[in-house]
Parts: sequence; structure tokens; C-alpha cells
Amino acid sequence: MRPLIAGNWKMHGLAPQLDDIEAIAASVKATPPFADILICLPATLIARAVQTAAGRIAIGGENCSAEVSGAFTGDISAEMLKGAGASAVIVGHSERRQHHDETDAIVAAKAKAARRAGLLAIICVGETKSQRLAGKALSICGDQIAGSVPESMTASALAIGYEPLWAIGSGHMPTSKEIAEMHGHIRQCLVARLGTEGKDVRILYGGSVQPSNARDILSVPEVGRALVGGASLKARDFEAIIGAVPTKA
Ligand code: PGA
Repeated sequence: MRPLIAGNWKMHGLAPQLDDIEAIAASVKATPPFADILICLPATLIARAVQTAAGRIAIGGENCSAEVSGAFTGDISAEMLKGAGASAVIVGHSERRQHHDETDAIVAAKAKAARRAGLLAIICVGETKSQRLAGKALSICGDQIAGSVPESMTASALAIGYEPLWAIGSGHMPTSKEIAEMHGHIRQCLVARLGTEGKDVRILYGGSVQPSNARDILSVPEVGRALVGGASLKARDFEAIIGAVPTKA
């Protein structure tokens, strides 16, 4: 599996910011990276971003309903994202788990919906600071994998975002050793859950990835991939992170 650098714009972005998508697409065309590039956007921007990206970078959603269609005012199905041109969707981001009470079972249902629609599902897991300090980080993330990853998932339909909650938007992050330990653990959990398919699932590190630390993070064994929030909003920062991808996986 090629490395994957994914951006997550969260609830940011109006039409003028499509200029950043255009700039990133142009830079990827000029210097093709050894990685797949994906930017997950508010649903309102997806269709136009797909046109702007012209196939050079993939565009994804940030959430989807588990349902195909129906009386669910305000919700957006995986099929609708696909119809708008998205090829991926983030499910179970910690902000959704926290602010919208999304349980592992809900996240698993959304991941199944993504697979049904033919979207790559990026399932997020991560521990709080107090859970890490209590020595529970590995078991918390292991439980989230067991509860959120449907057993029917294949390596090409799934990526995991490991995002410690305390590292998101904070400028603080785990050490390289802690990231390597967690990614190794997530790999074991994926193999336990999915068998050989679990060996190839891409595991992205997320939480305060910046141009200044991207090279170090991406060279941690078992990482090589990232989910980038704040620094994906500016083309120049995101391009610098793309430029930090090691040339060999
Ligand atoms: P951050 O966000 O890079 O701004 O820390 C990461 C995320 O929440 O996906």
C-alpha cells in the first residue's frame, strides 16, 4: 500500500479556499509524491473540490450517515458523498465521538456504509491524556478497533487514523517511541480482527502534524502516513508535509 497523506479541514472552508485545493493539485502534478493525497472537506465543498482537483488529489467527506436514504433531516449518506465525487470518508473522528456521542457501534455502522458505497473508510481511534497517564492507551485503542472495525473490512477499503485526543490541535504529541508502539499494537489488533487483510491496512498518525515535525513522524517505523488537521488548511503547509514523505515506503 502506498503511503497516504490525508487532510481534514473540519468545519472550515468557503468557496475561496478552493484556491488551496488548486494549488495543492498543481504542486502534486509538478512533483508527484510517493503517496496518495486526500483532502477531506465539509460536504458543501466536495463537488467543486473534485472538479478543481482534476483527479490529482482525492477528495473525501468528514462523516456520513449509516443509512442509504430516508427521513434523516440534515444527514448525508455515504452514497451521496460518492455521488458528489468523494472517494473516502472519515468516520469516528474524536470530535464526532465527543460532541455527537458516536459509540463504537455507530462508527462501525458508518464504516460499513462507506464500504457499501465504495468509499475508503478512515476510522479514527485515540486515547485521552488521562487514559495515557493511567497506562491504558493501548487497551483503549485496541477496544476501539475491536468495536469500530467491521470484520468484513478489506485492506483497500480501510485506513485507521491514530489520533491521541490530547495531541489534536494542541502542539503536544506522543514521542516517536510511543507512536511506534501504538502503531505496532494497532497492527496486531487489525490482524487479530481481519486476518491477513489486517497486515496491509494503512495506519495514519494524526495530532499536531506540522511541516516542522512531519519528517520525523513519517519516518517512525509502522507510520509513513498522516492525518493532518490545521496544517492542511494552507496549501503551503500541506505541500511541505507531502514533501516530507520518505521516498521509500
Ligand atoms: P490537527 O488535527 O492536525 O490540527 O492536530 C488532526 C485531526 O483532528 O484530524
